[in-house]
Amino acid sequence: MSSLRVERRGHAALVTLDRPDRSNAFDRATVSELGRVGRELTADAELRVAVLTGAGERAFCAGADLKEREGMTEAEVRSMLDAYRTDFAWLGSAPFPVVAALNGAALGGGLELALTCDLRVAAPHAVLGLPETSLAAIPGAGGTQRLPRVVGYARALELVLLGTRVSAEQARALGLVNRVSPEGTNVVDDTLAWLAPLLDGSPLAMRAALTAVRAATTLPLEAGLDAERQAYDVCVASDDRREALRAFAEKRKPVFRGR
Ligand code: COA
Repeated sequence: MSSLRVERRGHAALVTLDRPDRSNAFDRATVSELGRVGRELTADAELRVAVLTGAGERAFCAGADLKEREGMTEAEVRSMLDAYRTDFAWLGSAPFPVVAALNGAALGGGLELALTCDLRVAAPHAVLGLPETSLAAIPGAGGTQRLPRVVGYARALELVLLGTRVSAEQARALGLVNRVSPEGTNVVDDTLAWLAPLLDGSPLAMRAALTAVRAATTLPLEAGLDAERQAYDVCVASDDRREALRAFAEKRKPVFRGR
């Protein structure tokens, strides 16, 4: 039985980690399944966003499956670390944004999965943290590198060294999540409603904007400005940009065709 569910909601794909009896922790099979799903989704030109969530309300993902981990050899653990790097990479490099909808606890590798995504929305009861040092290890799915890029060095170091668990509201204050869903709403529905401007916008401009802003996380300023310019060039030549200007002049909503 697959540990992931994938469904379509219009131009959005919803990917659900579905191992509720293990708090949606990922074992070897789930990691490679996530890689396979990523290859399928990134090849789909109709997709404008993907949302990653977990089954149930208690956990988004409790990280590595510690029950499986206990029986692994050192070589197997090392090969899992390599697999995280290859099979999770699409979450932050897909041609559309990927948004983590944290329906509950995001701990260890679960938070690292969310950090690999472009954006994060949390249910109000979600808790977030990187407890790996308390397990005599360190975050091994990119957390030590991505967390400082999201919340800054000192806060990241605190979360990693002390294993501090933060609430959804604290995570929002840190910039670790973009949004906390209102009480009583479903975090996936709330996330998709929040994303409406992205889903209604020009697919071409959204992709260009995503490419340009992502470049800022890895490139020095001058190279980043080159990346911005290249991304803008795609928009300059597009029908969508001309349609937006016509619609503005005619005081109507633009109709974007993604070309
Ligand atoms: N790997 C495997 N199973 C896990 C797991 C993990 N990382 N985290 C939780 N589970 C299992 C529990 O063992 C339990 O199963 P069991 O009753 O058969 O033992 C089940 O998921 C539910 O967990 P429980 O703690 O009863 O539920 P909860 O909703 O009260 O708490 C968490 C959920 C995720 C907050 C809590 O389980 C937790 O803190 N887990 C550890 C997370 C962690 O340290 N991850 C770091 C990995 S590097």
